[in-house]
Amino acid sequence: MKIVLSLGGSVFGDVDRIKKFAEAIEEINCEKLFVVVGGGKTAREYINKARKLGADETFCDYIGIGVTRLNAMLLISTLKDAVKKVPKDFVEAYELSKMSRIVVMGGTFPGHTTDATAALLAEFVGADLLLNATSVNGVYSEDPRKNKNAKRFERLKANELVEIVRRGEIRAGSSNVIDLLAAKIIERSKIKTIIFLGEPENIKKVIEGDVSGIGTVIE
Ligand code: UTP
Repeated sequence: MKIVLSLGGSVFGDVDRIKKFAEAIEEINCEKLFVVVGGGKTAREYINKARKLGADETFCDYIGIGVTRLNAMLLISTLKDAVKKVPKDFVEAYELSKMSRIVVMGGTFPGHTTDATAALLAEFVGADLLLNATSVNGVYSEDPRKNKNAKRFERLKANELVEIVRRGEIRAGSSNVIDLLAAKIIERSKIKTIIFLGEPENIKKVIEGDVSGIGTVIE
């Protein structure tokens, strides 16, 4: 079984938290595991500074990608069976996976977030499962921070996910549970996906199929 795990930078955190995630990752029982790490607060800080200094958006994306790769190196620092190299694209990730059970990477190219990177990687390597660890406990009909009555889903079809994300993206600056490109790739590749609250102990639960209260299964 091949699994791609997307760890949003917002769930990544300090040294203790990274160690806890690393322990949970090492316990995942599968043939190949690809972890895609986000940039979180550090990426946002760097991007904001670069914008103020006059950088264009594509250059800001490259800065964000740089931070995601640094975070990937942090995770590699504490993993025992991961390759000590951060692949820059999917072909390299696939090649490195021949050398080791775990491959950790950050972003690839400008224009999207690591949600989409993880979905594209899952498609490219033929993953059986895509796990997206995020800061909310699943997909809601609307942003639950803005509307207390938003409905939480435990199961969704991929085309329903695309519609929910599309509605969210209409509002400028809205922070969606997953980016639109990622939702579209999940729809076309038909890879089973679980979007869940990114806590180390939740990784095992969702792999075992228990998403109650913590996530949404897309299939
Ligand atoms: P993230 O995936 O961390 O974005 O990438 P995010 O929106 O902050 O996600 P969370 O909150 O961690 O879940 C950080 C930035 O890096 C650039 C984008 O600018 C993104 O906002 N990036 C990342 C790319 O341009 N391409 C990639 O493949 C990945």
